[in-house]
Amino acid sequence: MSVQVKNISFAYAKNKPVLSDISFTLESGEIIGLMGEIGSGKSTLIRHLNGLLSPDSGFVLVDDFPSSDKKARKLVGILFQHASRQLFEQTVFDDIAFGPKNYGEKGHTLKKTVYEAADLVGLGQELLELSPHRLSGGEKKLACFAGVVACSPDDMILDEPFSGLDSISRNKMVNALETLKRKGCGILIASHHSDTFVNLVDRMLFLENGSIAYDGSPDSFVEKYPLQSPSISALMSLLQNRGVDLPSDISEVEEAFNAILSVCGKGGTR
Ligand SMILES: Nc1ncnc2c1ncn2[C@@H]1O[C@H](COP(=O)(O)OP(=O)(O)O)[C@@H](O)[C@H]1O
Ligand SMILES: [Mg+2]
Repeated sequence: MSVQVKNISFAYAKNKPVLSDISFTLESGEIIGLMGEIGSGKSTLIRHLNGLLSPDSGFVLVDDFPSSDKKARKLVGILFQHASRQLFEQTVFDDIAFGPKNYGEKGHTLKKTVYEAADLVGLGQELLELSPHRLSGGEKKLACFAGVVACSPDDMILDEPFSGLDSISRNKMVNALETLKRKGCGILIASHHSDTFVNLVDRMLFLENGSIAYDGSPDSFVEKYPLQSPSISALMSLLQNRGVDLPSDISEVEEAFNAILSVCGKGGTR
């Protein structure tokens, strides 16, 4: 199954184009990273992928259906940028069950679907009977993601999935994405910083002023756009270049803090 974006252009207001002639295809089992500064049009592009917005020109096809078609909407799951604000059921279980229930699942099958989705994103069963308001920010996002997974879409689009996550939830999100990719899911991840996902993606798209300025491997992306190199990773490589013995895969503040403390002989949890 594929999501084919062909020459789409879009403007919210006349003469202020937000997207200009965007084309790419998301294939099964592939993870695409969609990078771009805040305001570059990532969320606007994502709203086209399940028919929430229609392009002014060009088209989006999901497995040969137009993206606004009901069948296409079931095939593409979307985790929205501020999804956690949309948790509204009495329990986490009910929130995760909302989508599959709408598709007609009930009873034992529904319960199995919810438990499997929660397990895949690393949410413990003990959380399922709690009110979603009792979850941490990271757990809320994982619960929303479990709700998407529970609908069993062929492809998934995630808008800023790592923003606001602590390192535990972030690792759970990464593990879940790797599992879904192994299962053959096509995944597009939009983010305004590459800290977490540059190692996760097969292909990187960089959106600049509404156009695709880069489309290629994540490795040459990091070479071509050194400014995109995250500040924590940049600091780690500077220290490594000066001979400080640090692990090479650190990109988060908390991990960096612990690693530096450890090197200074002041503990740290590394
Ligand atoms: N609903 C909307 N109405 C009008 N303009 C919008 C709307 N949503 C986003 N924009 C504008 O479109 C541009 C792209 O925004 P957005 O797609 O949210 O970018 P990103 O997700 O990359 O931060 C910005 O200039 C933003 O102000
Ligand atoms: Mg956005």
